[in-house]
Amino acid sequence: MDSTYTNIIKNAYREISLLENKGKVATYIPELANVDDAMFGVHITRLDGAEFGMGNNLEKFSIQSIAKVLSLTMAYKIMGERIWSRVDVEPSGTKFDSLLLLETYHGIPRNPFINSGALVVCDILISHLDNAREEFLDFVRALSDMPHLNYSDKIADSEKAHGYRNTALCNFIKSFGNIENEPAEVLDFYFDMCSLEMNCQQLSKTFTFLANGGHKIIDNKKIISKSNSKRINALMLTCGFYDESGEFAFKVGLPGKSGVGGGIVALYPGNYAIAVWSPKLNPNGNSFKGMKLLETITTHSELSIF
Ligand code: DON
Repeated sequence: MDSTYTNIIKNAYREISLLENKGKVATYIPELANVDDAMFGVHITRLDGAEFGMGNNLEKFSIQSIAKVLSLTMAYKIMGERIWSRVDVEPSGTKFDSLLLLETYHGIPRNPFINSGALVVCDILISHLDNAREEFLDFVRALSDMPHLNYSDKIADSEKAHGYRNTALCNFIKSFGNIENEPAEVLDFYFDMCSLEMNCQQLSKTFTFLANGGHKIIDNKKIISKSNSKRINALMLTCGFYDESGEFAFKVGLPGKSGVGGGIVALYPGNYAIAVWSPKLNPNGNSFKGMKLLETITTHSELSIF
């Protein structure tokens, strides 16, 4: 990794480490609250394979909503453009678990990254696969070249036992006819998908395909077309941070996706993918230090899609 990148990341990491660690760890999934909230990691992987990480970059965590990008990729491969009749491509301007806009839009979620949209994507995968839970995991393992990646049963069970809002969302969408399978089956798969665990290094490597026109960097194998990869990146830019997506585009200037486990992945097409992790969340449900770190890195590198 050339020293310009490593120096920028080292300096930004030190600067943000000194900040007061504001925010709160997510507790609505009780098992997520057991994390050490001082964890702070970053890892960058460039398309030429060069990589660099700092802090707790090798500690695995619950990637939560970041997995929604991978389930969308799999469903988009299967359905092609027909997928957009089930889920829209507009920012919601609301919290990730909001029910509000479903009534207005007759059960069509605004985008695939809010919970309602991700539930519809899970429903699509269940309809098209023999065993969505296993086949999604196989897809992510193959995409990452990491055969040991796995779900966390502890986290999935914990979310399932408290998932009242997601249950409400799924039933509400079903009432409009936009969920084909039994809500209980869709919810089980959704909770498993969100419980996937990775560290910053694994996340940054996994997401390089979206910085590389839909192709894996190791063997150039096509995961999705260049045009579909552009569209997923556009969705990450406009919808990846829920009601803070505008702010992320404004301050960081890259497509990205956050999760309530405190992880964020972002990518600079043609160049790199980067993952950061710090469990304390800001009021919008995005990692407080993670957002600041990415802002500092892109400000100092002066590289963004704009
Ligand atoms: O459905 C939920 O609430 C979680 N499994 C995922 C939410 C999430 O990660 C939102 N991210 N910022």
